Amino acid sequence: MDLSFYRGKRVFLTGHTGFKGSWMCRVLALAGADVTGYSLPAPTDPNLFSLAGLEGHIHSVTGDVRDRDALQKAFDEARPEVVLHLAAQPLVRMAYVCPAETYETNVMGTVNLLECVRTAKSPVQSVVNITTDKVYLNREWCWGYREDDPLDGYDPYSNSKSCSDLVTHSYCSSFFDKEGLPVSTARAGNVIGGGDFARDRIIPDCVRAAVDKRPIVVRNPHSTRPYQHVLEPVIAYLLLAACQAQEPGLAGWYNVGPDDCDCVTTGELVNLFCSAWGEGLTWENHAEKNAPHEANFLKLDCSKIKSTLGWSPRWHISDAIAKTVEWTKVWQSGGSVPAVMDKQIQEYLGGHRA
Ligand SMILES: NC(=O)c1ccc[n+]([C@@H]2O[C@H](COP(=O)([O-])OP(=O)(O)OC[C@H]3O[C@@H](n4cnc5c(N)ncnc54)[C@H](O)[C@@H]3O)[C@@H](O)[C@H]2O)c1
Repeated sequence: MDLSFYRGKRVFLTGHTGFKGSWMCRVLALAGADVTGYSLPAPTDPNLFSLAGLEGHIHSVTGDVRDRDALQKAFDEARPEVVLHLAAQPLVRMAYVCPAETYETNVMGTVNLLECVRTAKSPVQSVVNITTDKVYLNREWCWGYREDDPLDGYDPYSNSKSCSDLVTHSYCSSFFDKEGLPVSTARAGNVIGGGDFARDRIIPDCVRAAVDKRPIVVRNPHSTRPYQHVLEPVIAYLLLAACQAQEPGLAGWYNVGPDDCDCVTTGELVNLFCSAWGEGLTWENHAEKNAPHEANFLKLDCSKIKSTLGWSPRWHISDAIAKTVEWTKVWQSGGSVPAVMDKQIQEYLGGHRA
């Protein structure tokens, strides 16, 4: 996996203070990119952006993607060659509580960023909008969704990302395709890894329970999700942005997910976490009555990115859990978080599929 394309490249990254964004900043810092990040302030401690030691490695701008003028100013000052859009309200349950804010951030945030690209004063070479596996109309069937399946997420989060994907399609047809500017969307599955402290996500729930030495509470042990290590999509997004900059015909819509053998239920994922953590960690099934709707079965067909870009997953789900536990134990024992992140990035980049 060669990231030399990014050496000295000006990259504009929204959502850089988040889970994926912080890992991406670390990868881009190692690759020698000139990164400007634009996000809301990092959440209160613990947060990965602070732990990852990124201050000084990137130019960090605090701002809201709903604020078109502030976004335009930061964008114009950065004069980006590559644009990666990760900023979002990404939590399904939060979106049920705040649907309007979720749509404002996830849809109008995308519109505002694409407007910056459309009116850019210096040429942009490549844009990737990070959406999600939840953009598809979920039929609760056993097959993986393909890129040309209908987009129609059920809940406000999923649906806002379907809209973000569709907004991108319209900007491509209306503006970018004619200019030859490659713009893609990437639809990845649920990610796990060290440093996710979000509410209502299973691995952060596991970590909090393990640290407090109490059983993990699992709400939906039988739901199947395309779980993968965070470095899988982060590297796939960077590969896509680099490849389409050099060959614009590659731009399009790409799924990014694990192979079938690694699509596990949430219960199986938690079992793996308990074994990797040790210390007698256990979990309990607390299925909620009247819980907001969430898909039970979700898989992606990733044939397109494999055949077109040569990307394929490198870590099995057990490896992804082992790396998550390794990261968490380093953090818990006061070790160097940037060092363990760089070690895992190097292992990922240098590794081959087991
Ligand atoms: N984590 C997953 O499992 C997963 C799976 C598929 C897709 N995604 C997508 O990947 C992207 C990153 O997700 P994450 O897990 O890192 O989320 P995160 O919550 O850790 O990070 C979100 C980032 O977006 C920023 N942000 C939120 N609202 C903003 C606003 N109004 N203006 C500016 N910045 C704002 C936050 O400050 C943060 O930097 C999102 O687009 C999400 O939808 C995540």
